[in-house]
Amino acid sequence: MGHNTVILAAGRGTRMKSQRPKVLHRLAGRALLQHVLDAAAGVPALRTVVVTGHGADEVEAAVAASGCVCVRQMPQLGTGHAVQQAAPALDPAAATTLILNGDVPLVTTATARALLDACGGERLVLLTMTPADPHGYGRVVRDATGERVLAIVEEKDATPAQRAIGEVYTGMMAAPTAALGRWLARLGNDNAQREYYLTDIVAMAVADGVPVAGIAVVDETEALGVNSPQQLADLERRLQRRQADALMTAGVRLADPARFDLRGTLECGADVEIDVGCVFEGRVVLGDGVRVGPHCVLRDTTVAAGARIDAFSHLEGASVGTEARVGPYARLRPGAVLGDEVHVGNFVEVKNSTLARGAKANHLAYLGDATVGERVNYGAGSITANYDGAFKHRTVIGDDVHIGSNCVLIAPVVVGEGATIGGGSTIVRQAPAGQLTIARAKQVTIAGWQRPRRPGKPGGSASGGG
Ligand code: UD1
Ligand code: CA
Repeated sequence: MGHNTVILAAGRGTRMKSQRPKVLHRLAGRALLQHVLDAAAGVPALRTVVVTGHGADEVEAAVAASGCVCVRQMPQLGTGHAVQQAAPALDPAAATTLILNGDVPLVTTATARALLDACGGERLVLLTMTPADPHGYGRVVRDATGERVLAIVEEKDATPAQRAIGEVYTGMMAAPTAALGRWLARLGNDNAQREYYLTDIVAMAVADGVPVAGIAVVDETEALGVNSPQQLADLERRLQRRQADALMTAGVRLADPARFDLRGTLECGADVEIDVGCVFEGRVVLGDGVRVGPHCVLRDTTVAAGARIDAFSHLEGASVGTEARVGPYARLRPGAVLGDEVHVGNFVEVKNSTLARGAKANHLAYLGDATVGERVNYGAGSITANYDGAFKHRTVIGDDVHIGSNCVLIAPVVVGEGATIGGGSTIVRQAPAGQLTIARAKQVTIAGWQRPRRPGKPGGSASGGG
């Protein structure tokens, strides 16, 4: 049997008031159209056809990796016209054709499967709903018994009696492929909008004696389209709530599911706690017992068991070891690899550096392109000067080193195991293991020095500066 999937994505999206094609606006970090492709991928089609129009170049580039076929609809003369453009690209051997919308992103694989199963290559199946306000939707007209669907009438073409119908068409259907081709060929545009309505095929099916079924969507969220920034934000919150619920069902403790944002995947061990206002992007993994404080951003990062990420920390492309402590206000950039029990404190930035077990950089520091040994104590205000304007160089700090405050390690440089670097040092050469190295001007006191004074002013006080 098998099926085709057609995704309509040619519309303009005027109300978004955006340069970006509507279907490429992002929901939980993925394009609207990508959500639909992903849901459709759960019921693999023999052929997936995306109908593009507005912003076609951008839309086609965005879906190029998915293996679907793109056909262009220029100009856009309605949903029926859109499917007419797709028809030549359909696989005629696929008995059923599923039609979805690129701007209705929260449809689930289960619903797509339900439409396909109900169609079975023999029936025309419409996904319907009964929203609180049916305004703007095509109404599902049934016979007197309410058993049989007779037609869909668009709002603008409906009689007052038809407008009073509560059941509407969601825009998603499954149709027998061969019959669909015949019906499409007969569509006209003699209606209020001078458009070729896909929905006119319903009355054609009835006339042909093809059974038409309406199945009600289980969760109306699945059928909500995005036409405005308000609707996009509304769907974002609904989707975030779905994701938050799934995590909480798995035992993750979210301080507030309404203040949680996941734009990718989040895998959590047991007893994970996440405070308010956190954003997770890409692929994030949190081990058992990890606690994430308020307002943290974690992107493509792994945090091992028992580690704690304190408030306002920003982690990207990082790996954090067991029982480590990060933040508050820490920044881990790509290639930051923290071993077990490492501490990285406030206003510390780490990039492309490895900190071995128990190393600490607790305050106001920068570590870039560095290899830091076990139990190192890296003082406040110290930095690796890793970039000479053309090349990046490594700094290697051995086990048990103490780097004082406000040091500059000018890479490439090696600090030997157990060495101590005096505060305020600028280190340009190897510092030998086990010894104290200081590289700063010696402190001097100038005897009898007098601070300059203005004539007529009492001297000695620190007043009048600036
Ligand atoms: C359509 C249905 C209506 C249904 C509603 C659900 C028709 C005639 N009407 O309304 O019964 O209640 O969806 O939202 O089908 N598109 C194209 N090319 C076009 C026109 C539209 O690709 O020429 C795409 C849009 O990008 C969108 C989808 O088709 O993804 C639906 O278009 P839209 O204009 O939102 O729907 P309506 O025609 O108003
Ligand atoms: Ca329209």
